[in-house]
Amino acid sequence: MKIAILPGDGIGPEIVAEAVKVLQALGLRFEMETAPVGGAAYEASGHPLPDSTLNLAKAADAILFGAVGDWKYDTLERALRPEQAILGLRKALGLFANFRPAICYEQLTHASSLKPELVAGLDILIIRELTGDIYFGQPRGRRGAPDGAFAGAEEAFDTMRYTRPEIERIAHVAFQAARQRSKRLTSVDKANVLETFQFWKDIVTEVHKGYPDVELSHMYVDNAAMQLVKAPKAFDVIVTGNMFGDILSDEASMLTGSIGMLPSASLNDKKQGLYEPSHGSAPDIAGKGVANPLATILSAAMMLRFSLNQAEAANRIETAVKKVLAQGLRTPDIYSEGTTRVGTAQMGDAVVQALA
Ligand code: IPM
Ligand code: MG
Repeated sequence: MKIAILPGDGIGPEIVAEAVKVLQALGLRFEMETAPVGGAAYEASGHPLPDSTLNLAKAADAILFGAVGDWKYDTLERALRPEQAILGLRKALGLFANFRPAICYEQLTHASSLKPELVAGLDILIIRELTGDIYFGQPRGRRGAPDGAFAGAEEAFDTMRYTRPEIERIAHVAFQAARQRSKRLTSVDKANVLETFQFWKDIVTEVHKGYPDVELSHMYVDNAAMQLVKAPKAFDVIVTGNMFGDILSDEASMLTGSIGMLPSASLNDKKQGLYEPSHGSAPDIAGKGVANPLATILSAAMMLRFSLNQAEAANRIETAVKKVLAQGLRTPDIYSEGTTRVGTAQMGDAVVQALA
């Protein structure tokens, strides 16, 4: 089992170190190799995703990824910005299926900005298509507007597009995931306005014929954004395109009150995967030893389950995380009165202990 470790920027190295600690405590045999990515790689070699890092990722069964980005790189040309590393990895490895669970842990119900009764027991799964849509569509760029009321004026444009096979494969992934849960799938689109998402809706409806046991509903993205804060527990599995998924998954993560708790998995058709916390690089708290490592530790659990065929080890980690929460240990992001405040490394150590 070969794991590429890409810590990245900001709090990335601190939280990844804790997840590695937990992996090493499982008593399994992993081959792990670390490489720079994002701003760290740009500093070291002038590119956010150097060939050596990309090749290591390609050769691995799974990638454990921290986070990339820092405001100080915002003025670099786009191709050299840290975000290009994660976009480049997704594209180069064909990681089209992004799983973003939003789970409200019992002990953290009061951390949500929503009323506790709305989020208590929340457990939804957003499946986001990750290698198509307006993120990657060509052409894109700047030019003189070719027509319209402002013809000749400077304009910028991107292209929203999906091919049939891209929609079919993510739909299959979503129906299969729904089958393993409560058999309810909501496909989120904007078919009332966009050609791309009428096509999406038509194809998801077609693919549904192969999954008659799953109940499918369609929802426009604006309504989905509203329903997510109105009655989030009405959802189970949501499938949507790249951009809508980016937005809705951030919204969903906040329902749980603790983005520091949420893992994610991005898989290709060979079950090779990239695993990362749903949160970003948080440069404001980097190096202070206060970041919550649990999202990364839980991402390592997803990695064991989805890419490394070690479901039992994955369960052990998830149980250990629930145990440390029950013990009252909290990093500052999830701290509340009456609990015990701990730092990044202490939290990692506590999970290791809870594994035993
Ligand atoms: C995410 C992030 C990325 C995205 C950025 C960092 C490119 O927001 O993983 O959701 O937009 O996909
Ligand atoms: Mg995002």
